[in-house]
Amino acid sequence: MQEVRVGLLGFGTIGAGVVRVFQHNAPVMSDRLGATLKLVRIADLDITTDRGVEVEPGLLTTDADQVLTAPEVDVVIELVGGYEPARSFVLKAIEHGKHVVTANKALLAKYGDEILAAASKKGVEVMFEASVGGGIPILSAIKENLCVNRFRSIFGILNGTCNYILSRMTEEGAAFATVLRDAQQQGYAEADPTFDIEGVDTAHKLAILLTLCFGTQVDLEQIHLEGISQISAVDIQFARQFGYKIKLLAIGKEVDGEIEARVHPTMIPQNAPLADVDGVFNAVRLVGDFVGPVMLYGQGAGRDATASAVMGDVMAIARNLLKNAVGRTPARAHQEWAISRRPIRAMHEIVSRYYLRFTTVDRPGVVAQIARVLGNFGIGISSMMQPEGRHVDTVAIVIMTHEAREADIRSALAEIDLLEVVQEQSHFIRIENSIE
Ligand code: HSE
Repeated sequence: MQEVRVGLLGFGTIGAGVVRVFQHNAPVMSDRLGATLKLVRIADLDITTDRGVEVEPGLLTTDADQVLTAPEVDVVIELVGGYEPARSFVLKAIEHGKHVVTANKALLAKYGDEILAAASKKGVEVMFEASVGGGIPILSAIKENLCVNRFRSIFGILNGTCNYILSRMTEEGAAFATVLRDAQQQGYAEADPTFDIEGVDTAHKLAILLTLCFGTQVDLEQIHLEGISQISAVDIQFARQFGYKIKLLAIGKEVDGEIEARVHPTMIPQNAPLADVDGVFNAVRLVGDFVGPVMLYGQGAGRDATASAVMGDVMAIARNLLKNAVGRTPARAHQEWAISRRPIRAMHEIVSRYYLRFTTVDRPGVVAQIARVLGNFGIGISSMMQPEGRHVDTVAIVIMTHEAREADIRSALAEIDLLEVVQEQSHFIRIENSIE
């Protein structure tokens, strides 16, 4: 039987998952490939820590070059993470004619153009299914089965840490800080969770999806980014009373020839399928012009689910190699020459519905003052609530708006915050009704 030889760079949690796939599912892979996939080398700076998997000692090395440049390696799996040295490793592997599989969304979001140009020049493949949505085969779906569609929109719950925190805040009415601390103690959140909770991880994944869906390059700085640290239990409660849940969404849309690229907490209807995605699970909903809405759901992180996606890419490359068909499916769903820089819609131009929460004194005429400012900016009120303020000096006034321009909402809130009756800076959360 023919052999395709694999070198693994980075022996952490996902690396151990990859080794487990080789150990447990070798017959499954050879039945489906018609050849043998063989793990020939594992490189990591630390080759002594127990990863919970048995490895022949001869496979392990601390020298990355033994994976990157060795003639006996056909496919390199990069699981080092981060920008450097991962970028240099991947470029070196390509230079030496290796095909590359990576789970590194940060690397792809920032250096995808450089890496794919190098790969194309060298005639090798770079695949990265595990970089978005862990085990969910969203990139393959866009590249393969859905490839005749023009995509209208894509919405993703792409960060398990944020989704776990928001789910628990919703179920328990707990405060953000309390749930985060608990999540860290239980190992669901990183010791430094900034990238996750501030939405950076989600933005990396969205940047990749936008290129695949809309054929556009997007710089990370062009993606509007808001995390979940400002979401309070009270907003979650009000959302529920109006029939909504709050989720951190990655949003990509094509509107009048421009691309919306944004990551922010979003109120979605409780009956929308995405609202049922709880805990550490991820999901992506996209709409194609022929296929209509499609939703994929699964484990967005974790050893085995991510290893499944990594090894699926290895199998795809091996299949191509065995048929001498390198480059059959473009890495970013489009021919590289068809990827351009499409205009990204400025955030103040977007149109959305909004949830507004004001903290005011409890006095006659307050609602009228707020409504007057909103009216002056052409913002229509769709629904309103003011819970009775008992034994307190301030009350919350909550307003759901009709569709409005973000610029008008921001201007109106700035004016309202100057009113003498308003006691705290006003809050707003965008509402998305198009995903029911
Ligand atoms: N840190 C990510 C999450 C997983 O919490 O979903 C890796 O992308």
